[in-house]
Amino acid sequence: MNPAPNLILIGPMGAGKTCIGRRLAERFTLDFVDVDQAIVEAAGASIADIFEHAGEAGFREQERTTLARLLAGQGQLVSTGGGAVLDPANRALIAARGFVVHLHVSVPAQLERLARDKGRPLLQRPDREQVLHDLARHRDPLYQQLADLTLDTDLFTAADATAQLVVKLATHWQRQDLTA
Ligand code: S3P
Repeated sequence: MNPAPNLILIGPMGAGKTCIGRRLAERFTLDFVDVDQAIVEAAGASIADIFEHAGEAGFREQERTTLARLLAGQGQLVSTGGGAVLDPANRALIAARGFVVHLHVSVPAQLERLARDKGRPLLQRPDREQVLHDLARHRDPLYQQLADLTLDTDLFTAADATAQLVVKLATHWQRQDLTA
């Protein structure tokens, strides 16, 4: 058993972090928090607009401050953006403040799931497949290094993946309530 005040989902775009995260939060009676959504609410602008006006570096800065603000809390299911693990300070915070579930997805499954996506700035280009391979090569070791638990979501619906995780978490994650 590994005690932690939050459950944190990491993994690439299209892994199902938001979909599975909502379901898991309900099953464990946790507050569902989506870091990208919190950034959008704080900035009053879409992720695409933030990338356009502040660049990726500006977005990463907002991601860093939002993640730190959210992870100060407890009893939450925190769904992170695919690139949140790039920053060493984010990684240290994620490791310190949660039990970390890595949702893995292969590039072919990502391409299928994200085929109609228009909201992710990194994918608005013709060489999506190459981009996704490059991101995976760079980021997969970071996801693996942080993960307390990994699930490959390729062959699962969100409901099935959630059911698998509920079973695994029951034996691996001990909820830590610091106010208790
Ligand atoms: C990003 C992933 C997105 C979002 C932004 C950048 C990335 O989140 O944070 O578009 O760098 O992989 P999701 O992983 O929730 O799609």
